[in-house]
Amino acid sequence: MNEADSEGIAAAFRRRGYTLTEDIKKADAVVVNTCTVRQKAEDKAISQIGRLRVWKEKRPEGKIFVVGCAAQKLGGKYLKNRFPFVDEVVGAKAIEQFEDSLIRQLGPSPETETSHQNIYRSPQTAYVTIMRGCSHKCSYCIVPAVRGPAVFLSPEAVLADAQAKLAAGAKEIVLLGQTVNAYRHNKTTFDRLLRKVLQLPGLERLRFMSPHPLYFDGAFEALLAEQPKLARHIHLPAQSGSDKILKAMRRGYTSGEYLNLIARLRLAAPGLAVSTDFIVGYPGETEKDFKDTLAMVEAGRFSLAYCFKYSPRTDQPEMAADLPNEELENRLERLLAAVKKNSLLVLNERIGKIEEVLFETENYGRASGNFAVRVKAGGAPGRMERVLVAGAEKNTLNGKIQ
Ligand code: 5AD
Ligand code: SF4
Repeated sequence: MNEADSEGIAAAFRRRGYTLTEDIKKADAVVVNTCTVRQKAEDKAISQIGRLRVWKEKRPEGKIFVVGCAAQKLGGKYLKNRFPFVDEVVGAKAIEQFEDSLIRQLGPSPETETSHQNIYRSPQTAYVTIMRGCSHKCSYCIVPAVRGPAVFLSPEAVLADAQAKLAAGAKEIVLLGQTVNAYRHNKTTFDRLLRKVLQLPGLERLRFMSPHPLYFDGAFEALLAEQPKLARHIHLPAQSGSDKILKAMRRGYTSGEYLNLIARLRLAAPGLAVSTDFIVGYPGETEKDFKDTLAMVEAGRFSLAYCFKYSPRTDQPEMAADLPNEELENRLERLLAAVKKNSLLVLNERIGKIEEVLFETENYGRASGNFAVRVKAGGAPGRMERVLVAGAEKNTLNGKIQ
């Protein structure tokens, strides 16, 4: 989501003739797009902003913008007080009004048209936001507080954005939102929206991120079965394998229901890759609860799992982390080891099979299942090729173009 917001911000600068540089010494403006999903992200943002003091001293005419979720949480008043050299603070809820801040600092844009160059993923992959915010109340999560309740964009707005990005050369679209499959705008449900996007000329592959286990239905399963351009990969955060912890987290499903759901999705799309997120050390998580999460890794046959140490996002005493950091580290390590072992098994199952690969360079691309694929030669940016998989190592398949 933040990457997608950064794309929008970069586009607003490009309309004013700016170009992107990785070298801060060459920059005339700096944008710090912040995250606060875990405390570590917020801490990183703070130290990044702190480091800009020297930059600003050397070029008082340079502009510093602090935007996003940590900016929303901490507030403009606090940030400008602590870092007086910051020119503008734009919280996540006001990110759509970033243009107003730009006008204040740099004047109006001479151009109205936005170019659709993608800078954060490969040029052939474009993000399209379909919803903002989240109306869930997962107990550990700060997102609803900093991004606000769920708001769905109209299908017209989604299609216009997708169309423009395809016209600019994108081959793959990633529909974005906190609970994308909860999408509903008047009569347009998630599956109907997907159907419309799938009809756009130039589209080779459609992904979405992230869905919530509560919102998949028969209509989606039917669409998945029928539409090969829908990626054979779903990132579906499970968070825990313990029913007690899932309940405390207010996730709305049990581990059994989650596993049944991915079994149904795999029935609709044989070979579907499923990746997930887990949190370890949620308050009250016992060794037994943690073992349920370890068991889930095997049962889910996940291609990948992002694992996080629980990070308290409120001051409520009952939400404090109740495990010593040593134990948190220990569980995280054991979980990561289980995930690594399991994903290698999943990867190895692909050997000898054909993968549809969208290439980003001559020898690197991504399979429909989101696996990274390497070949010796023959690929070209934006080209879809069939690759016979010969081997697997460290999250990457290798093979030969057919
Ligand atoms: N502590 C640890 N991990 C968290 N996530 C969200 N909130 C927290 C938290 N307070 C994780 C979840 C989510 C991912 C984006 O970040 O796993 O799916
Ligand atoms: Fe946070 Fe996702 Fe739960 Fe929304 S659904 S509250 S974004 S974890």
